[in-house]
Order: sequence, then C-alpha cells, then structure tokens
Amino acid sequence: MKEIIDELYEKNDLDEHRLLYLLNNIDEKSREYLTSKAHEKRLKHYGNKVYLRGIIEFTNYCKNNCLYCGIRGENKNAERYRLSLEDILDCCNSGYRLGYRTFVLQGGEDPYYTDDKLVELLKAIKTNFPDCAITLSIGEKSYDSYKKYYEAGADRYLLRHETASKKLYQRLHPNMELENRVQCLRNLKEIGYQVGAGFMVGIPGQTNEDFVEDLVFLKELQPHMVGLGPFIPHKDTIFKDEKSGTVETTVTLLAIVRMLLPDVLLPSTTALGTISPMGREKGLKAGGNVVMPNLSPTTVREKYMLYDNKICTGDEAAECRKCIENRIVSAGFSLDLSRGDNNLWSRK
Ligand code: 5AD
Ligand code: FES
Repeated sequence: MKEIIDELYEKNDLDEHRLLYLLNNIDEKSREYLTSKAHEKRLKHYGNKVYLRGIIEFTNYCKNNCLYCGIRGENKNAERYRLSLEDILDCCNSGYRLGYRTFVLQGGEDPYYTDDKLVELLKAIKTNFPDCAITLSIGEKSYDSYKKYYEAGADRYLLRHETASKKLYQRLHPNMELENRVQCLRNLKEIGYQVGAGFMVGIPGQTNEDFVEDLVFLKELQPHMVGLGPFIPHKDTIFKDEKSGTVETTVTLLAIVRMLLPDVLLPSTTALGTISPMGREKGLKAGGNVVMPNLSPTTVREKYMLYDNKICTGDEAAECRKCIENRIVSAGFSLDLSRGDNNLWSRK
C-alpha cells in the first residue's frame, strides 16, 4: 500500500488497476498515510489556507428529476421559492460585509431565470462588487448561454458530473445523458471558466470500479475545482431508506483527488459535515482547501433541502461565518478571504 500511495504522491497519477487496488484494500492505517500525503501535497501548493465562498441558493425549482435529489421537479412535497434580483444582491451585500469575495449562485434548473434575467443579475453583481468572483451552479445550458454568462461577468462554473459510470448515470438521471454533461464541462472550459466537476460518494449500487471511472475522468478533464461529497438519502425520494456514503470513503477519495490534481480547489462539503460532526475538519485534513458557508436568507434555507438533516439551516450568515471561522482555525488552518482563484487560471 505504501508504495502505491508514494507513487501517487510522486507522479500525481496512478493507473486504473492500482487505483482499484488502493480502494479495495485500504485500511485504517493506510488511510491515515494517504491523508497525510494528501495534506503534504496541499501544503506545497496552497499552504494551510482555506478559502471561503458564500453560497446563495436562489431557486429550488427544477425541471429535472435526479432520483436522489430532494428538489427534483416531481417532488410535490418540496415548498418552492425563488429569490428576486434584489434579494440576491442583499445576500451579496451581507456576504461582502462579512468578508466574502466569492459568491456562488446555485439553483435547480429553473427556466424562469432566462438568459436575459441571468445576464442582468450577473452584471448587477459585478457592478456592485467588482472585486468579487462569481461562480454559477445552475446546471446544463447551451454553449451560447454559457458564453453570455461569462461575458456578463461569471468567472467559475460548478457542474458535478455526479458519476462517470454511464450505467449508474443513466439509472439516476431520467431524460439526461452523461455525454451531454461531459460536453457542457468541455464547453465551459473552452469558454474560459474555472470549471468544477465532481461526484457523489456512496450512491446506492455504486462500486469501487465506478469510483475509478470518476477518478480517471477527473484526471483527464483537469478541472480547476472538484466537488465531492457523500450521498445522503432524502425522505421524499426512492432512496429514503438507503444508507449515506461514509466519511471514510469520502475522505479517501478527497485525498486521492488532491494528489491526482495538486492545484485543484477542493471543498470540504456541507454534506460531509452533515454525516459526521467533525466531517468538514476531516475533509480539510485530507487535502480539502475550500469551505462554502451558506449566505441564503434564513427564511428559505429549510427549503433548499437536497438531502435530509442538512446543517447550517438556521444560523444567521454572520453567526455561521464566526462558527466556521473558529472551526477552521481550531483545526490548524488559516482563513483566506481573497477571491482564491485556481493557481493555474487567469481570465481570457
Ligand atoms: N445527497 C448528497 N448530495 C446531493 N446532491 C443532490 N442530492 C444529493 C443527495 N441526496 C448534490 C449533487 C449536486 C449538488 C448540488 O448536490 O451532487 O450536484
Ligand atoms: Fe435538480 Fe436536483 S433534481 S438540482
């Protein structure tokens, strides 16, 4: 095991067979070694800094029906909401005053927000907060739409591939195609965005072979960011009685991604913090270097439930900031409130 981990550390690469061997045979002791090497790699490339991004969940309407997701279009129990342009600017404003310099606008695939509305919103944010980065996370759109958003000021785009296994992808996403999603990711890169891909860990039926496909896919795509968190069941989905992904497997995969892509911006996700009280800290110690506190108005937070028991739904943005800040510092890291771009990116 040590040899394989050392090879991964030295070469920032590992062939499929060894990746599978690593996942199939990892135990407590080798996981500790793996995470310590990932931590070392992160220190080399980003120091002990943790970047903060304020996330604004601006709509929970969605036209898709991803089987695992609490806000899938067909979930009649989800209470739907949309934030207005003014609401969103208010969130940015309180975030800005707390020190945030990246705003992540996330939502379901909601046709109400036409390209014109989105362009207006992006321009308004850029005019009011010219020193901030804007990240979009609003799903699959055409090349032209992505280009319009980029030209209106969006800098980054998060679009998890969810799983690179074609069979599993098909099973989870009615009326969607893995090829389209991958094409979207390639289009976003070509346009010039910093791009985030990523996958869920512990989806019912998912195997180590599937994770190898995810890892090989990420190595080939070379995204600037990777979002990776445990699957957590939601009460209104067919997976309601299934088990969540585990902290151990999530941490293992975070550590491997840190070494495959040393310059990647890698969040320790809210989902990881939800399945275990020290989950986010564990993610940060395994190569994670980003945390994304919620800036959504407290009145809507309860409604953006992708999975059950999501944390940080009640706190005020200011309290949330303080709480997270203390936790990050207690875990031995330092906060970085700058835009925190990927080392290898500049706007074209
Ligand atoms: N458990 C964990 N993560 C989920 N997501 C959606 N539903 C769930 C769930 N039940 C993730 C998806 C999506 C991101 C915004 O949230 O990976 O890309
Ligand atoms: Fe659309 Fe989940 S089904 S965001």
